[in-house]
Amino acid sequence: MLRSALLNVMVAAARKAGRSLRRDFGEVENLQVSLKGPANYVSAADRKAEEILLGELAKARPGYGFLGEEGGVHEGSDKSHTWIVDPLDGTTNFLHGIPQFAISIGLERESTIIAAVIYNPVTEELFTAERGKGTFLNDQRLRVSARRLLADSVIACGLPHLGRGDLALFRREFALVQDKVAGLRRFGAAALDLAWVAAGRFDAFWERELQPWDMAAGLLMVREAGGFATDLDGGDAILAKRQVVAGTEVIHRELLGLLKQAEKA
Ligand code: IPD
Ligand code: CA
Ligand code: CA
Repeated sequence: MLRSALLNVMVAAARKAGRSLRRDFGEVENLQVSLKGPANYVSAADRKAEEILLGELAKARPGYGFLGEEGGVHEGSDKSHTWIVDPLDGTTNFLHGIPQFAISIGLERESTIIAAVIYNPVTEELFTAERGKGTFLNDQRLRVSARRLLADSVIACGLPHLGRGDLALFRREFALVQDKVAGLRRFGAAALDLAWVAAGRFDAFWERELQPWDMAAGLLMVREAGGFATDLDGGDAILAKRQVVAGTEVIHRELLGLLKQAEKA
């Protein structure tokens, strides 16, 4: 597959940071059994991956701004371009030795995401997308699923933990959706949840209280694979409201309706 120069830069950065995460993930598996546990080790792995990404992306595109989960905002001289980066999405999975985590890189130009990479360094699944050019998994073009019935659908979600977010609201949402679908999943890495909607594995995904770096890349992937992504009011303020519903045209609409119902209940 012939990738643009821009995507090549992003893929090379993701692969380099991925090598570092993969080594550290191997170590985490050993640290599980130690008394101190792997928590400090994991936050160091996370920061290291972000430093690699910042370094590689800045080397290739000096001047672009950078918004990373670990290091915050780096203003660039080029005000129209910003990298939106999560060096390790799925930290809890990583910490527990569960190989469902990824590096997520989105490039924003004038408030529009124009390029995206999501890379799981353990499974070596590399998702890429560019505005107007489609979404790919490794070399294969992706399309959202063709399922049209909620009753056939597998839907992914994110849920609040440890006092974060509105548990009661989530339980109402869950109860309504649970009753109507073939399966519900909570995989714990929002970037991959979106990439998996693009891949047609999930028919839809929703989550509240996300951050821009969890979603930026995945949103473009869903849309470039023919899917729909909105905030929970059906609008476009996904990054501002920090919430997303994404899916195939039909399932997205149905799910949005159920979530509205839960909000009013
Ligand atoms: C988290 C994951 C998780 C989602 C959380 C995010 P992190 O990101 O995407 O699936 O439910 O809201 O914070 O902390 O692992 O980068
Ligand atoms: Ca994240
Ligand atoms: Ca993270």
